[in-house]
Amino acid sequence: MSVRLAPRAALPSSRLLFRPIHTSLLARPAPASSSRFQSTSTSPPPRQPYVVNGQTYPLDEWSNTPPSILSKVNRNIHLLPSHPISILRQIVQDHFSSHTALTPSTPIVSVHQNFDELGFPPDHPGRSLTDSYYLNREYMLRTHTSAHEVESYRRGLDKWLLSADVYRRDEIDSSHYPVFHQMEGTSVWPIDQLHTLPELNAQLAAQLEKCPLLIEDETTISPSNPYQKHHDPVHAEQITRHLKHSLNSLIFRLFGQQATKDGEPLRVRWIEAYFPFTTPSYEVEVWWEGEWLELLGCGVVMQKTLDQAGVPDKAGWAFGLGLERLSMVLFSIPDIRLFWTQDPRFHTQFSAGKITTFKPYSRYPPCHKDMSFWLPPGTMSPDPDAGVAGVAGGKGRAFHENDYCEIVREVAGDLVETVTLIDEFSHPKTSRQSKCYRLNYRHMDRSLSNEEVNELQQKVQDRVVEEMGIEMR
Ligand code: PHE
Repeated sequence: MSVRLAPRAALPSSRLLFRPIHTSLLARPAPASSSRFQSTSTSPPPRQPYVVNGQTYPLDEWSNTPPSILSKVNRNIHLLPSHPISILRQIVQDHFSSHTALTPSTPIVSVHQNFDELGFPPDHPGRSLTDSYYLNREYMLRTHTSAHEVESYRRGLDKWLLSADVYRRDEIDSSHYPVFHQMEGTSVWPIDQLHTLPELNAQLAAQLEKCPLLIEDETTISPSNPYQKHHDPVHAEQITRHLKHSLNSLIFRLFGQQATKDGEPLRVRWIEAYFPFTTPSYEVEVWWEGEWLELLGCGVVMQKTLDQAGVPDKAGWAFGLGLERLSMVLFSIPDIRLFWTQDPRFHTQFSAGKITTFKPYSRYPPCHKDMSFWLPPGTMSPDPDAGVAGVAGGKGRAFHENDYCEIVREVAGDLVETVTLIDEFSHPKTSRQSKCYRLNYRHMDRSLSNEEVNELQQKVQDRVVEEMGIEMR
């Protein structure tokens, strides 16, 4: 029997580190046996210490960042003036015109900044080597812009927007890329200034009244999404209200014109969510072309974050927005890799300040190759939602699709367009599992020859056999 998997969604998921409560598997505790993530990456560690922007990072058993990923570190496509990612960044900055715009100089942060400081539990799946890129046990490529919250508050900034590249190990398809961009935005106030919020909120509400906007918000404050104990509930309510008004107005700015062309109002939906560094927490969706599209995560900043930043007498809100997903939708860009192309046929289509519809140009033909293999005896795939890179059974390691994709990416880089599981099989007698993946190759900027693709496929095969202990069928 073979199993054909459903096609993947065409749009990037918002890639929030936690999912909203309503669909949530998220705060699921790790299996009792895994008290702390172990080093279970299947890629061999690099041999030379990492040198990034003049800094040397010694290697250890956590080092799992391949050179192909490090080569993206200084590309800064979010800062190229007429790149779609940058156009959106600028529109958000213009919208929050009194916020200070920040761009961190390096994507390397400490594990402490990315996770510990923000209250991520030690067994959170995002920490695993299958999900994140580590330079060593202490430093990593940030997985979200929230990694800069504490340091930005520490600078004494109350209103800031921070845009940056973030890195996550992931599958390969038209909507996932290991590097993408986020914008973090926050407003905090000295607690003795919070009495100004009702007036600010009334102004924002009056502006929103004039917009053709239908806001669906059935969220409540409850034990699963509470105000913070030490916050005066009246203050917490006003901060939450300000957060909602501010983001509704941003979303109207981004989508309003296009979405209301047919005379219908723009629909925005608020959903309760969970993030370790905000409460109450929300996710916001917009109704776009017949579907709810997840846009951002947000919430009232956990007081612990502000305490650590040395500003315990402040309170406010924060949001994190994924720029790729937004750009793909607003500019009609069909493939996330296009953001990285150097092809002038892409770049000449966009200009600063304008959201225009991408006109596809003829693409070079694709070429696919299948690869079937047996997992090592005694291993099985872990539950993909668990995200835990643990040992799943017997002596072998768990097979994790992200590890497989990482090897494919290291060999073929951007030439591989999608990696799709097309068949799975479990031997009725031995229970041994096999998988068949289809690797679809396409060059963004020229045709690929069959020999070239065969050579890549062979290299992938050699490496997965060697590094993952799997056996070709
Ligand atoms: N950093 C979160 C993520 O990437 C999003 C977020 C930012 C949520 C700020 C709340 C506040 O999943």
